[in-house]
Amino acid sequence: MGRVAIVTGGTRGIGEAISIALKEAGNTVAAVYAGNDVKAKEFSDATGIQTYKFDVSNFEQCQEGVAKIVSDLGPIEILVNNAGITRDATLHKMTPDQWAVVIQTDLTSCFNMCRVTIESMRERSFGRIINISSMNGELGGFGQANYSAAKAGMIGFSKAVAREDAGKGITVNVITPGFVATEMVETIPEKVINSIVSNIPVKRLGQPSEIARGVVFLSSDDAGYITGCTLDINGGMYMT
Ligand code: CAA
Repeated sequence: MGRVAIVTGGTRGIGEAISIALKEAGNTVAAVYAGNDVKAKEFSDATGIQTYKFDVSNFEQCQEGVAKIVSDLGPIEILVNNAGITRDATLHKMTPDQWAVVIQTDLTSCFNMCRVTIESMRERSFGRIINISSMNGELGGFGQANYSAAKAGMIGFSKAVAREDAGKGITVNVITPGFVATEMVETIPEKVINSIVSNIPVKRLGQPSEIARGVVFLSSDDAGYITGCTLDINGGMYMT
């Protein structure tokens, strides 16, 4: 059944694959992006998916952006919090700005978007929230105290909200991707990435479409008995 879905960071990387897969599953998708207009236009032209530009780390912008999506497309029933950034540095070199911007963009955005959509989901007694965390939130990423903290925070946040809203037909789940072939992973120095891949049991990076398939499943009506769960899609690199 077609539902209205928001995917944050939905025009590039893993988010692009999620937007496309949710559309192919019959949903109407709004792909939210922060800055890259050229890529957003290419994405929209290629897929026919509507894009919306606002900063998910800013609560007021989320209120306004979601209100616009609802007025264009209808009430939100599926929310995928995928937007995220890295500012990698070992802790002894990390600046307060590198800490704050990652927490705000990766974790506070999740609060912002859930907060502005949850009341309508509760009123309608249906919702599917899928938060894209990271294996590094479970494992602790080298050079990623900020990112690992934000991604671990998403897991605790999701379990709390899953518990609060389970009786309202709303499920809240987390996907923890491992190393997936996107621009974010391409920024890792080559000598580091080679050693990372050699430690992945399936011996390759993941594909964005492999994360998107998990999202489609968790967003489906069939997944109504799964909530508060963390789905690891990481090639066996971290087994919980
Ligand atoms: N594990 C173990 N050792 C590592 C390492 C790792 N993942 N990454 C770096 N090191 C080691 C280096 O080999 C180096 O060791 P030597 O001095 O013996 O050569 C030492 O740490 C210092 O490394 P750098 O010279 O690179 O130091 P730097 O201060 O210039 O940079 C860094 C440090 C920012 C952490 C850099 O190494 C880096 O960017 N590493 C990659 C971080 C990473 O894995 N990011 C993941 C991005 S993908 C993602 O986040 C998606 C997801 O959800 C999984």
